[in-house]
Amino acid sequence: MHSTEIKNNIYWVGAVDWSVRDFHGYSTPEGSTYNAYLVKDEKTALFDTVKKPFAGELVLRISELVDPQSIDYIVVNHVELDHTGALPEVVDLVRPEKIICSSQGKKALLAHFHREDWPYEVVKTGDEISIGSRTIRFIETRMLHWPDSMFSYIPEDRLLISQDGFGQHWATSERFDDEVDASELMYQARKYYANILLPYSPMVQRLLADVKGQGLEIDMIAPDHGLIWRSGVDTIISAWDEWSRQVTRDKAIVVYDTMWQSTHAMAKAVAEGLQAEGMCVKVMSLEACHRSDVVTELLNARAVVLGSSTLNNNMLPRMADLICYMKGLRPAPKVAAAFGSYGWGGEAVKLINAAFEEMKFGIADPGVKANYVPTSDDLARCVELGRMVARAATASPDAE
Ligand code: FEO
Repeated sequence: MHSTEIKNNIYWVGAVDWSVRDFHGYSTPEGSTYNAYLVKDEKTALFDTVKKPFAGELVLRISELVDPQSIDYIVVNHVELDHTGALPEVVDLVRPEKIICSSQGKKALLAHFHREDWPYEVVKTGDEISIGSRTIRFIETRMLHWPDSMFSYIPEDRLLISQDGFGQHWATSERFDDEVDASELMYQARKYYANILLPYSPMVQRLLADVKGQGLEIDMIAPDHGLIWRSGVDTIISAWDEWSRQVTRDKAIVVYDTMWQSTHAMAKAVAEGLQAEGMCVKVMSLEACHRSDVVTELLNARAVVLGSSTLNNNMLPRMADLICYMKGLRPAPKVAAAFGSYGWGGEAVKLINAAFEEMKFGIADPGVKANYVPTSDDLARCVELGRMVARAATASPDAE
């Protein structure tokens, strides 16, 4: 795969990782890309690099266009290793005049690579550097995704180079949004937002207001992962606005794990009750669904009902894993309830409720427990639990 010209004299020179299947706990069944961009002008600038094993590919793609040693500036928009793993090798080869980064970026680069001798140039929001016929304007985007993160904006090309922002983990041979299936693209973008950016939603809101306030004209967004937005710039910006406001729908997710199918039967009964009250329902068994797919569905759900059998006075391990992951992503409050089967202790429901309280979810009902195998009365209580959750959810104002 060759480099791709995305604007006049601006090139994608990154790498496609067809095989990666896990990104610190986020399942990536479609792989990912590590996008890096080269701008040829009076000065030549490289924006970000790639994950370490792909350094050779990056250098090869750059070499199709310029002698790597003619690169003057390396802009580090984000220090996470999927974008800087190849940096030491590239710096040794290129010997750049400047490595441009935020102040937090410099700190993080030093902490990762321990190279005091690199020619750092620290920039902050509003700073501009001329590279000839073009200007690079920097916008710090702290915590999106790390404290070091920043965007680079090239006004002459109306191009926003956005590191993790607006990205998707999706390996494709195509480079642009209008070359792939639109609904798959938006699904991957939503999954990326839910699993990576959700905890920083208030900051995303401030950033979007800031970008609007500055009146930046953008006709292309080039993220560090996935497809480049050229036809869907407005679509992805309004999607990010909706996701960061955590707008919900009349939708509930019922997520469960089961030992001997009792909690499975209860989950189906809860879903029946939710549906009977007009809610859209997604039932997700943790045996079949990855935690990162669950939080993708959680993003616009108004209610969440979790079920687990009790095992050794605890909830089942896959439910504990999901709750740990969910807590870290700090979703906006949801309407919630718990259920589960048990043999003697029955602690799972109590423990799930404690987790709901910690996440400030509104518990619609103390929950339903069934001893060993649910009776028809137990299942009727589960249906009623679903109905109760649905009524509470439809009565509750949106998270907006
Ligand atoms: Fe793609 Fe936060 O790194």
